[in-house]
Amino acid sequence: MAARGVGLLTRLPLHSQRRSRVQRSISSRHLSCPGTVAANFGSEEQPSGGAETGSEDKIPKKRFSEVQEERREQAQRTVLIHCPNNINEKKFLKYLSQHGPINNHFFYESFGLYAVVEFCQKDGVNSLQNGTHIPKQSTEPAIPFKSRFLNLKLKNSSNQIPEELHAQTNNQSPPSSKKLFELLNYAENIDDQLNTLLKAFQLTEENVRLRHLTCSLVEDIAAAYFPGCVVRPFGSSVNTFGKLGCDLDMFLDLDEIGKLDVHKNAGNFSTEFQMKTVPSERIATQKILSVIGECLDNFGPGCVGVQKILNARCPLVRFSHQASGFQCDLTTNNSIALKSSELLYIYGSLDTRVRALVFSVRCWARAHSLTSSIPGSWITNFSLTVMVIFFLQRRSPPILPTLDSLKSLADAQDRCILDGHNCTFVRDLYKIKPSGNTETLELLLKEFFEYFGNFAFNKNSINIRQGREQNKPDSSPLYIQNPFETSLNISKNVSQSQLQKFVDLARDSAWILEQEDKGQPSLSSKKPWGLATLLLPPGAVNTPLSKKKKKPVSEKVKGLLASIKSSTADSSKGTHGKNTISTQA
Ligand code: CTP
Ligand code: MG
Repeated sequence: MAARGVGLLTRLPLHSQRRSRVQRSISSRHLSCPGTVAANFGSEEQPSGGAETGSEDKIPKKRFSEVQEERREQAQRTVLIHCPNNINEKKFLKYLSQHGPINNHFFYESFGLYAVVEFCQKDGVNSLQNGTHIPKQSTEPAIPFKSRFLNLKLKNSSNQIPEELHAQTNNQSPPSSKKLFELLNYAENIDDQLNTLLKAFQLTEENVRLRHLTCSLVEDIAAAYFPGCVVRPFGSSVNTFGKLGCDLDMFLDLDEIGKLDVHKNAGNFSTEFQMKTVPSERIATQKILSVIGECLDNFGPGCVGVQKILNARCPLVRFSHQASGFQCDLTTNNSIALKSSELLYIYGSLDTRVRALVFSVRCWARAHSLTSSIPGSWITNFSLTVMVIFFLQRRSPPILPTLDSLKSLADAQDRCILDGHNCTFVRDLYKIKPSGNTETLELLLKEFFEYFGNFAFNKNSINIRQGREQNKPDSSPLYIQNPFETSLNISKNVSQSQLQKFVDLARDSAWILEQEDKGQPSLSSKKPWGLATLLLPPGAVNTPLSKKKKKPVSEKVKGLLASIKSSTADSSKGTHGKNTISTQA
């Protein structure tokens, strides 16, 4: 292992400073109310990478559904407020407390200053809304739509307040590359670097709250048409693998509507709702999303750039939620994707090494443009995550169980069949035996690159259900079986040239880590080392491949055009609309 001998004393201030700052901001803003679920900071969607603190065993491992229910309820007691820049935090809280006790609040900046305020009870929100007025029409007419997204006005905005009374803002962005390299250089060894990267990029408590609040605001809009519907976040916002800046995938769940029905048996009669019928479920999905898309576009405060992508395999409405800064994808009739988020949540919560490894691989892929925020024939973060899970199932002893073994641990309540697909697996994390594997993150990262640098992609597919390679059922360059819809390939969009780029970079990276193992560079060196070297732009490190003759620019451009072409062709027939149109952090 390439341990660094940088003196502990020189490192300590940075770490301890960071910790005390986080603690201060949390304790000063978190006031517990009787009768409410206290926030479990940093331990729900994003269980802390506790290898450093050793605290992971103490974190209660909640079920995915429990976490989601608590977050939803919390979001319903929360409002989003656009504030003047020079707001006095104390006075702001005093003013809002007139409407009811406040459980938690924080400020953040996103083209203006915003506050997220969680009341102890929903009554607080109602009272605040009742005391809020429709803006007086000025030059442009406004649509009188009431929501939980408010504007705070100062009656006398000229009053200057001392800077120390200004609201402190919470950062919602990932660290800059400079900052990241600094943090990585301070780490003690490569394992520490992977954990550091995880902490720097994982969604913060505040960011998670903001994501659930955004879903809750969209739910209010959808509920105007479909009372009783639920808008649930899925994908990396909730599966423990979300990086700051990742998109917000939302699922409009209309199945909940029927669950509210009370069946009264009065004699021989019963009533049911008159409903329109349509020729297929797909058409129903398209119509529903079309109308919700219109609503978001016309009435949704802060929802801009609404695009209805209704002909994708999985129809969706894409928009930007300006106030939160989230790029949102709203789908419906997509409960299998929610189930796969739950499965990933389980894998991410079972062993602290899983998330650290996935985050590093995702950052590595982003640094080398293997992934992109624009749709194309690039590998997606979701595919990379499944590849890491597969790799960890292949270790000896395995670090992660196969999906089939999670299914064998399931009881009757876990049974779940969606659209004819068996999505059953154990949901209680305590029923899964921890792995006896003690391999270090450094070793795992190196072996990951070696494993996939030499994987027989030409004939084998990746299958986390069985945890072993299988013959590829078709000629897609990269074949990763969808864990539930087993006839689908989640990486169908990936082109041969993108796969080759991944393989070449994986081999290079394995080689770089091999050199690290040999014990240089000098300890006093300020040069990037370990994981930081892997994140450097291509060409910055001398590797066996970078020494090879570079392709002429024209060939590179040809490759890019081919990628774009093949992705356009795929987008109409993708295995899942998401894989060709999703954005990635
Ligand atoms: N999904 C799927 N099949 C695909 C693509 C996506 O089942 N081919 C589901 C997965 O559950 C995935 C979710 O849709 O997690 C959201 O897709 P996407 O936003 O592309 O991936 P994320 O996991 O959210 O990762 P990112 O951080 O890049 O958004
Ligand atoms: Mg996503």
